[in-house]
Parts: sequence; C-alpha cells; structure tokens
Amino acid sequence: MRDLVRRRLDFDFDPSVVPRDWYHGDAHLTTFWTALSLLFPEGERFFVESVRRYRGRIEDPELRAAVDGFIGQEAMHGRAHRAFNEMVRERGLGVAGPAEAQVRRLLDLARATLTHRGQLAATCALEHFTAILAEQLLQTPEHRDAGHESVRGMWVWHALEESEHKAVAYDVYQAIGGGYARRVAVMLLTTAFFFGEVAFVHGRLLHAQGRLGDVRGWARALAYFWGRPGLFRKLAPAYLDYFRPDFHPDDRDTRATLAAWRERLFGAQGELRDRWRMEPAA
Ligand SMILES: [Fe+2]
Ligand SMILES: [Fe+2]
Repeated sequence: MRDLVRRRLDFDFDPSVVPRDWYHGDAHLTTFWTALSLLFPEGERFFVESVRRYRGRIEDPELRAAVDGFIGQEAMHGRAHRAFNEMVRERGLGVAGPAEAQVRRLLDLARATLTHRGQLAATCALEHFTAILAEQLLQTPEHRDAGHESVRGMWVWHALEESEHKAVAYDVYQAIGGGYARRVAVMLLTTAFFFGEVAFVHGRLLHAQGRLGDVRGWARALAYFWGRPGLFRKLAPAYLDYFRPDFHPDDRDTRATLAAWRERLFGAQGELRDRWRMEPAA
C-alpha cells in the first residue's frame, strides 16, 4: 500500500466509439456507472481536501508519503472522469452539468455542517465504498468485462488505484485520534446521502433519455444488482465489516490481486502502458 505511484494517464473518449449503453448493453446499468462518474471529480476533490488538511500533523514519514500518493492518484482520477463526463455531455446528456453542480452543493453542505474530523470520516466511508467496489471489479470478470472496451481501461485503472490507496484516509483518521463512534455515525449518514445522491442523479439521467418510466428496465437492473450476479448483494458483507470496532481496510488482503493487475495494465506488455505518461511518485 505504501508505494503509491501517481500514474498520469491520458484518456479521451470519443462519443462515436463509446456505445450509448456501454455497460452490459443496458441503459439502466450504464446509467448507474455514469452517475458514479458524475460524482467523482467533485467527490475526489473533497477527499483530497479532507486528507491534505491533516498532512502537517502526521509524524510517520511513510504515512505522509502515502498521503502524497493518495492526493496524486485522486487528482488523476478527477481528470479522467472529467474527460468521461465531457463525453456524456457531448452525446446530448446536457443534464450532466446541473447534476455535477448539485453534487458540488451537497459537498458544500458537508463542508459547512461537518467538522474537519467529520469530513475526514466521510472520506473514510466513501473510500470504503470505492475500495470494496474496486475489489469486486478487479476480481470478477463478469462485472468488469460487461463494460465496453473503449471505457473499460479507465474504470479498471481507477479500481486498481482505489484498492492500492484504500487505507490512506483511514490511517490518517486513526493517526489524528479519530474514534469509533464518529466513524460509524458518519458512515450511516454518508451511506444515506451517497445512495440518495446516486439515485437522484441516476433518475435525472434516465429522465433526460426518456427512460425513467421503463419499468422492465428498472426490474432488470434491480435483479442484476441484487439478484444475479448481484453486485450490491455481494458487497453487503464487506460494507458491514466497516462497523467492526477493530476494522482496518487492509484486513481484506488484496495484495495478490493488485500485483497481478499492475502487471496486466502497466507491465512490459501492459494493456494501458501506451497511455501512461510516467512520472515520479508525487
Ligand atoms: Fe479515485
Ligand atoms: Fe480513493
């Protein structure tokens, strides 16, 4: 976890190449991932802010270096998702702009109402979401390969780095003396707001496509997420793990998975090697 590399990758997404329903050929499932993408740039800015604020108070040089790696990785994710979101707008979903502005307002509300510690706890909660989702994507070909090849690389790279830096915000929270009660209370609050926001953005995107009332599409998506293959159903135990008092993100050992993916994406014959502008660690 400690050797976090800030990989600068150049992605451009051509709306004439990326299929409209690029995930599983399904409008509703595609919209779920698109909604997540619309949340990422602002969300990741919030994560960076809430962790960077404490950088000067961290005495462990290894953790301080990990914070720098975390900041560098999240900044790159924001950049890639902005390019992705631009493609979404270009293909006529102008509602993406107002949806992003609304995410910004929600995060401004979090900035105004939560203490700095609370904001860091919210980041830990959201980093737990991205970590467990990333683990599923990396370990389950069915979930991963349902994404069209024109966009898959970006999502897999993001998943790899979310898993690589999954413990950084949490370790900072512990290092500054963050406690259990705040951590789980903020997790409950964050869960409600996060799923509410994803559902709202999802609904807006479907509405803009005239597909909000497509009951069969909704039923198919629900079955996919909660039935088979059951992306969310399978995430439930990992989500609940966070409520253990002695929880730590590294309890889930993903080192072998990450090593395999680093090789597959960025090794000598790596799938994304040609997109990678190598830079020293941040
Ligand atoms: Fe990220
Ligand atoms: Fe992250």
